[in-house]
Amino acid sequence: MVMFTVTRKETVPFDGQKPGTSGLRKKATGFRLDDGGLHIDLPVSVFKQPNYLHNFVQSTFNALPADKVKGATVVVSGDGRYFSKDAVQIIIKMAAANGVRRVWVGQDSLLSTPAVSAVIRERIGADGSKATGAFILTASHNPGGPHEDFGIKYNMENGGPAPEIITDKIYANTRILKEYFIAEDLPDVDISVIGLSSFSGPEGPFGVDVFDSTTDYVKLMKSIFDFGSIQKLLSCPKFTFCYDALHGVAGIYAKRIFVEELGANQSSLLNCTPKEDFGGGHPDPNLTYAKELVARMGLGKSSSQNEPPEFGAAADGDADRNMILGKRFFVTPSDSVAIIAANAVEAIPYFASGLKGVARSMPTSAALDVVAKKLNLKFFEVPTGWKFFGNLMDAGLCSICGEESFGTGSDHIREKDGIWAVLAWLSILAFKNKDNLKEQKLVTVEDIVLGHWATYGRHYYTRYDYENVDAGAAKELMAHLVNLQSSLPNLNKLIKEIRSDVSEVAQADEFEYKDPVDGSVSKHQGIRYLFVDGSRLVFRLSGTGSEGATIRVYIEQYEKDSSKTGRDSQEALAPLARSFCLYAILQFSKILLQGHDTM
Ligand code: G6P
Ligand code: ZN
Repeated sequence: MVMFTVTRKETVPFDGQKPGTSGLRKKATGFRLDDGGLHIDLPVSVFKQPNYLHNFVQSTFNALPADKVKGATVVVSGDGRYFSKDAVQIIIKMAAANGVRRVWVGQDSLLSTPAVSAVIRERIGADGSKATGAFILTASHNPGGPHEDFGIKYNMENGGPAPEIITDKIYANTRILKEYFIAEDLPDVDISVIGLSSFSGPEGPFGVDVFDSTTDYVKLMKSIFDFGSIQKLLSCPKFTFCYDALHGVAGIYAKRIFVEELGANQSSLLNCTPKEDFGGGHPDPNLTYAKELVARMGLGKSSSQNEPPEFGAAADGDADRNMILGKRFFVTPSDSVAIIAANAVEAIPYFASGLKGVARSMPTSAALDVVAKKLNLKFFEVPTGWKFFGNLMDAGLCSICGEESFGTGSDHIREKDGIWAVLAWLSILAFKNKDNLKEQKLVTVEDIVLGHWATYGRHYYTRYDYENVDAGAAKELMAHLVNLQSSLPNLNKLIKEIRSDVSEVAQADEFEYKDPVDGSVSKHQGIRYLFVDGSRLVFRLSGTGSEGATIRVYIEQYEKDSSKTGRDSQEALAPLARSFCLYAILQFSKILLQGHDTM
């Protein structure tokens, strides 16, 4: 057996290693604009500079309780972006030196974020061990490659991201770190080959278990959904299907699940071979970035000439986000979660005994609220960020949840789940068509959405993003919007002067959330204007942008009258959007004119 020794290395802290809501994200190697105002591009490595990753990993080990490190089993993998393979070897050597007993690595260092969550919760090692946490190597939907983003985050024993108490500790550690430990003489492990490599170190045996990246996740999906009924749907010649992984890690799960398990055609998969640079693209599943799929589905300007498929979907780099499309039809993420919740009990075996509750993030439209009310379900409105759902799920209060930012999921894991969302939609389609497969016409995605609007009403919805704006100006605008809330009569007068056809603001506030499980309070979670007719305008600063500030404006209008739910969304939202945004544009034209809509 190969023996290794532990080396103590001296190091100095790096600035800016504060993990955000989704871990630490920086350029793998980047460029710095500076030098006396000359604006010369100087290549400067961030993640690849000596000790940068090492410091973060040691700070994480130091932040965890000792029993989650010494003798523990830890997962390391990610979406396969540039620098992942090097990072895995470094983390293996540091885990060995810090007394970890076993490291689990998905073959080729690939595991989607939802699969990591599933592996932590479900997988049992050959020695009977279970994992106590995971380093996930991803920057989610951000581009990858030598000059793009790399990221790392730590997930805990429940399969969800580390809570703030741990991430704050990690950050505090990064600021004072003086040393890290590494097994320099441990040979690199061949992570392309499944199997266990065993070593022996000062604290006893150490092993690296390279395992199939899809098996555990596929097993979990099979326990949730009725694969037989989905297979019948996919084998029906009238039902055509298309899935775009945008060169992210979702591709390996799509091949396994949609093609091998469910019998879809290989040709229905787009960009399903993971690439370190996501083919140079932006792996974010929305109408802007999933161009190829959007064209294939008959949406957008460059629509293909062929008859589009009945169903299309896409994922982001680490496969936790999803976009659902029908033939020439876009399903907003806010509608998607509402429709899944409304149909889950009938269509998805995992939910057959009922839903514990449902939840959405504040800026997500209120489509889910109407479903919850009608079905008499517990309902929660939480701030943006998946961690808030995790708390509810751990307490058994929530089964299905979703966000406008293309995230949908359930309590089967503690991350959002892109493939799960697709299987949920396929289950609903299979259920609605179960007696229909021999008929001339199938129930389509569009039929399901129109039917939903007819029953529950429609929430017209859009979001405007103003990216990379001056951070000071953005703050000023937000402060101004809060000020406006102090006098509703004045505000209503102002709005009426711009558009007389807009309803009155009934309530305005900054969203604040008290977690019903741990009692913690989150303040300043977005500025809300709630109108008498149920419409909403929400302003929020993004928490994920990497340059300057990003202002998001969410615009929503509820229409109960089923004869009026078929309008063009932008047209229906125009009075509301104009009344307020015009006002804001007049005030802050420089900022707001840069925006573009994403839905
Ligand atoms: C990440 C989180 C999501 C959240 C989103 C918000 O994707 O995982 O839970 O909805 O960020 O991003 P934003 O840029 O709007 O803060
Ligand atoms: Zn993601």
